[in-house]
Amino acid sequence: MKTIGLNIEKALGAVTKEQVYAQAAKAKAANQTLENGTGKGNDFLGWLHLPSAIQAAELADIQKTADKFRANCEVVVVVGIGGSYLGAKAVMEAIGGTFDHYGRCGTDPQPAAKKQPVVVFAGHNISEDYLYELQAFLKGKSFGIVNISKSGTTTEPALAFRLLKKQLEDAVGKGQALTRIVAITDKARGALRTLATKEGYKTYVIPDDVGGRFSVLTPVGLLPIAIAGIDIKQLVQGAADMEKATASTVAFDDNISEIYAATRNELYKSGKKIEILANFTPKLHYVSEWWKQLYGESEGKEHKGIFTASVDFTTDLHSMGQWIQDGERSIFETVLSVDQVKHSVTVPSDSDNLDGLNYLSGKHVDFVNKQAELGTQMAHVDGGVPNLKITLPKLNEYYLGQLLYFFERACGISGYLLGVNPFDQPGVEAYKKNMFSLLGKK
Ligand code: PA5
Repeated sequence: MKTIGLNIEKALGAVTKEQVYAQAAKAKAANQTLENGTGKGNDFLGWLHLPSAIQAAELADIQKTADKFRANCEVVVVVGIGGSYLGAKAVMEAIGGTFDHYGRCGTDPQPAAKKQPVVVFAGHNISEDYLYELQAFLKGKSFGIVNISKSGTTTEPALAFRLLKKQLEDAVGKGQALTRIVAITDKARGALRTLATKEGYKTYVIPDDVGGRFSVLTPVGLLPIAIAGIDIKQLVQGAADMEKATASTVAFDDNISEIYAATRNELYKSGKKIEILANFTPKLHYVSEWWKQLYGESEGKEHKGIFTASVDFTTDLHSMGQWIQDGERSIFETVLSVDQVKHSVTVPSDSDNLDGLNYLSGKHVDFVNKQAELGTQMAHVDGGVPNLKITLPKLNEYYLGQLLYFFERACGISGYLLGVNPFDQPGVEAYKKNMFSLLGKK
């Protein structure tokens, strides 16, 4: 089994290899605590063995529902926020064609692929303009809705769903609308469960023991991802293989989740309070958004925890690059690097050479990008920014499944090393209390 790789060599300096390896026993113990279910937040460990536990029949049922949406809808609106949104968005952006939102126009030669619905998101903001424009976009189109909320009471998705449900019912009638709405929520509790039961929607259950930010491999992520035409079996297979590769029985030296967790905690102790996840392809932008939530919400507690930030290179080398190179030395960088691109584009030769680029004629664009990546790493390491590098052989479903699970497992280990409960989020309630009181909610 080929797996994604982790290289910490360029992070050594701020901390030594000995310091990282001195944490091996603690990281191993934290991993065992996850597996034994004896640590903080142990009622939220359902994600740990999710990839190996998913049954083929469950995947087939999700695929069948997805195929129905794909056959009947021009647009599918996925409603959700936070953990009920970011996983699906991350996978779709990473695997789908960059311009799929504008309709298929030849990036995929298969005619069948041209027929797939456009997947859009709602319920992840409370913007009146966003909702107006979404409703205008949906007008006259055949659309379906996947409404996702674990608690079933979150304001943002509830508000968006109320509007979209009315629009769909007004357009096609209540009976037809019913066949184009799926709810993904708690098995028994919450307003969305009550609504789905009353209306008779098809539903999927978010397991009690899987928190939102760890739910990408439940129907929360899998249904929207399958609707977008992405291979969920390969995604789960990648995660299942990474589940094996990061088990506590795997030696620390070979266990990339343990090494990543130990290294970032040592860097944090040495004063590196901010971790910047960097990529060199815009396809990974939302993987970073998903990762920021995973680590930020899991570790930012009790007035401690690494602040998670992200940059898209080379774009952000022309903005945040200055700060990273020369600003306060409280950061370290983790670079997501993709070995092999999907498509081939070479630099054409130009007889005038007015742009001076002929020295690159015949070279692949990715060759240029890789030199930018190497040059950036050298500059940042020279500038006092420890660098970790995670390498994906290719950006496909299988390796993305590995990456998502690798981060999840490392997050659990890292949270335990930090001494917090990585599976709760008491801090997110504060704004809600104020908002509800300002809104006059009883
Ligand atoms: O990770 C989390 O728990 C949160 O980000 C939730 O996913 C988010 O608040 C949405 O909650 P819900 O699915 O209950 O609507």
